[in-house]
Amino acid sequence: MKLKGEKITLKSPSIFDYKNLQKDIRSDDILKSVSIFKHPNADSEGFRRTIDFLADFLSGRRKYFVIAPINVKKAVGVINLSSIDWINKNAQIGYWIGKEHWGKGYATEAIKLVLKYGFENMGLHKIYATVFEENIGSKKVLEKNGFCFEGIKIKEELKYGDPKDLHSYYILQSKYLAERKQFKNV
Ligand SMILES: CC(C)(COP(=O)(O)OP(=O)(O)OC[C@H]1O[C@@H](n2cnc3c(N)ncnc32)[C@H](O)[C@@H]1OP(=O)(O)O)[C@@H](O)C(=O)NCCC(=O)NCCS
Repeated sequence: MKLKGEKITLKSPSIFDYKNLQKDIRSDDILKSVSIFKHPNADSEGFRRTIDFLADFLSGRRKYFVIAPINVKKAVGVINLSSIDWINKNAQIGYWIGKEHWGKGYATEAIKLVLKYGFENMGLHKIYATVFEENIGSKKVLEKNGFCFEGIKIKEELKYGDPKDLHSYYILQSKYLAERKQFKNV
């Protein structure tokens, strides 16, 4: 499957994408900001999360795309919908871009494409994200795509052993559809 934007294409991942992305997956610039194991497979938590991830992926509770800029032609990041709840029609969005490619508008456009897919093709009612408090860039790309602040999950996640608050953001399908014209100009 491919979703085409102006600067980037989102496509289903292949083993070649993994090879291009593996340096970034292990970089602290990414790991300090995302809810992911620190060193894949290196400890029991990493192993548990790997199993959860695969189960989610195989069961269809997760849609996973790599982000390939049109002028670079290789994957530079990842975006996904996870914890897809088909009964309540909601899902969580997560994403990261390799540091070398930050600030080029890729995350903003990737989120825009996934919102379109989630709301218009999957029929989701709500898409939400959770962000560490200090992650200004991630908050900005969500707000640029119409997400609203929902609240704070206090000490929700251990990051490198430190319990951290998570800031929740959400967008409803009704708001997305009402403001669709505006998003086209993002
Ligand atoms: C957060 C992240 C996804 C942003 O990706 P990106 O492709 O660089 O974002 P964009 O280029 O679309 O930036 C959109 C806007 O956010 C701003 N922005 C991005 N990162 C920023 C930062 N760290 N601080 C302040 N502003 C930032 C950009 O300047 C831009 O603003 P503008 O439209 O006014 O010019 C990227 O920095 C990243 O992968 N970080 C590590 C992983 C992560 O945090 N994932 C999200 C977990 S919730």
